[in-house]
Amino acid sequence: MFSKTKSTLFASIILATFLAFFAVPFAQPAHAQFDACEVYEEADYYMEICEYDDGYYYEYYEDDEGWYEYEEDDMGNVIYEDGGYWDDADYDYEDDYSDADFDDENFYDEEDNSAPEDNYDDSDLANNSLGKTEATPGAQPWMVGQVDSSEPNAFYGHGCGGALITPEWILTAAHCLEGYSASEVDYVIGRHVLSSNEGERIPAAQIILHPGYAQTDGDDHDIALVKLSRPATAGTPIGLVTPATTHLDEAGVIARVTGWGQMGENDERYPDALFGVSLPIVAQGTCEAQLGADRIQETEICAGVPEGGKDSCYGDSGGPLTVPNGEGTGEVLAGVVSWGDECGAPNSSGVYTRVTEYIDWINQTMG
Ligand code: ARG
Repeated sequence: MFSKTKSTLFASIILATFLAFFAVPFAQPAHAQFDACEVYEEADYYMEICEYDDGYYYEYYEDDEGWYEYEEDDMGNVIYEDGGYWDDADYDYEDDYSDADFDDENFYDEEDNSAPEDNYDDSDLANNSLGKTEATPGAQPWMVGQVDSSEPNAFYGHGCGGALITPEWILTAAHCLEGYSASEVDYVIGRHVLSSNEGERIPAAQIILHPGYAQTDGDDHDIALVKLSRPATAGTPIGLVTPATTHLDEAGVIARVTGWGQMGENDERYPDALFGVSLPIVAQGTCEAQLGADRIQETEICAGVPEGGKDSCYGDSGGPLTVPNGEGTGEVLAGVVSWGDECGAPNSSGVYTRVTEYIDWINQTMG
């Protein structure tokens, strides 16, 4: 999960933009989420109120004479307070507020909760070290995005991928959900551009990590099922590779992985639109030789090319590795993005949880 870092980063960018625009002495509150801020702009004063999901409260007020801001914790204690007069020599205040500035799409109104349409220009992202290109919208209708439920914009709240395997169940990686309760997680379904309102956003109702996951200190049994709070109508579930159809994910088969993860090991650009890369399944022995036989289990499946440059990366976790269904009519799920040593390095395949090994657990758990 990388959403925390990412939301903090973007919140800082928003804050920096805010500061640059208005050049007011405006200290950063301790909370980085602007999802519930309200702006009141009147002829004689300006005010901003933010109520954070953790119960903290922030208020900024200013008028002709000066400004004042404070923050309260979840118990109502004032934990930060500052203010001043404009005619103090310390403040070099020139700008005036205009309504137009507050149409900035990066500020959300709690009531309409709307996210901006494709704000982020992804066109240069095709230039990346992992061979990722923008996916064809709608071509992988099982693809879902895991989003922090406190963040209205799925681009900022995105943490992991997942695959819809029935209208009510998502298959993803256990490490994506470790430490999360169901109320903290939503899924976007039938969506290509994260920051848009396409498709639907459904809260999780139940998170079930594989029981073996917690027992290993590595990433073994990195698989989880999430029950949605209502059946999805925007996506189409994908079938699974089963023990009877293991020829479908044999070494050499060209698989495909999709996600909203970052563009390279040291390339922390995150796409707003879904990206993907096609890459071959790697023989188990080859993968063991690359990453260490003790680290690669029979319950894992590897994909990549020896020269490197085709891989998933951070933020793609939990997402689907799919293979052709053998009938020329679509794809089936072979793996769940789990781990790798570095994204896109030579002789270092990406490691995926092998779906065929978990068919019984999946069926029993879904009931
Ligand atoms: N663990 C990562 C995540 O949480 C996925 C890493 C995949 N790495 C790779 N080289 N394929 O997003």
